[in-house]
Amino acid sequence: MSKMPVIIDTDPGIDDAMMLTLAFASEAIDVRLVTTCSGNISQDKTNYNARTFLSYIGADVEIARGLEHPIFRELEVAEDVHGESGFANVVFPEPTLPVSERPAIFAMLKTIMASEEKVTIVATGPLTNVAALLLAHPEVKPKIKCVSWMGGAAVGGNMSPTAEFNAYVDPHAAEIVLRSGVPIVMSGLDVTHKAYVTLEEAHLILDMGTDFSDKVYQMLTFYLNVAEQTPFNEDHFAEVLRFHDLCAMMYVIKPELFMGQDYYVQVELEGRLTAGTTVVDYARRSGKTPNVHVLHGVDREGFVSEFMNAIEFVGERIRVN
Ligand code: BDR
Ligand code: CA
Repeated sequence: MSKMPVIIDTDPGIDDAMMLTLAFASEAIDVRLVTTCSGNISQDKTNYNARTFLSYIGADVEIARGLEHPIFRELEVAEDVHGESGFANVVFPEPTLPVSERPAIFAMLKTIMASEEKVTIVATGPLTNVAALLLAHPEVKPKIKCVSWMGGAAVGGNMSPTAEFNAYVDPHAAEIVLRSGVPIVMSGLDVTHKAYVTLEEAHLILDMGTDFSDKVYQMLTFYLNVAEQTPFNEDHFAEVLRFHDLCAMMYVIKPELFMGQDYYVQVELEGRLTAGTTVVDYARRSGKTPNVHVLHGVDREGFVSEFMNAIEFVGERIRVN
């Protein structure tokens, strides 16, 4: 079976790094390009982090620099969640992978148009780069299998009472992508809050005893200290770890682990209280054709087991190389 061609757009970021781990451990996909977006931290830092992390885990892939700022809004970063560097206090060796000479949008265009099969885009940050690509080069649309995006939420936010971080940072980009006509899968907080890792499971990662598992554990526990509260489930506060971005990649690799339904979704662009909210027409009141496959359930045990296998596999690969 041929591997599924994939482009990753990411803002590493702790959970972005976990998502990259899963991607580069998988036999099912062929990552043809990584592009960096501004989000958790600035473009300079996300690009550097993508290069250090991917160099460290032994990935061989082009890494292209994306846009600096959201389409209209000022960039708001999340250094409180991911640390000033984006990787908590964990230091990786200097990168061996270079910055591509091709800017992200051009590299995406060329990669998609050169592919015989349709390409899947996994986007785990604000959608600025993907929106710019779809506006500047609509000819790519029929060649995109889907955009699997971590972002948004049907109920409750983590950046404001109703808005999730990636949607909040660049709501205009999210709206452009959701309206584009390209198939969209949304791993919003509704599903990512269910895809948690317990502290006991985090200890099993530490017990793997590799340099990588040690670094992963350090990043995970940093993340734990700033874990958000799950709406209506306060018992889980600070006892579990949520790696939102893993869901968008896991869905592409193992869709059978997830449950979801198609809905019409729009993004609130201004709003006195609700800018950046993904408004999901659950009640189907709009009469509009659904444009997004909204995930709302996950087989948590299956999800964690795949994640652990990926950490073990990559840790071993680093150790022997
Ligand atoms: C999203 O926000 C970022 O901080 C994470 O990397 C993830 O993409 C979760 O809301
Ligand atoms: Ca992210």
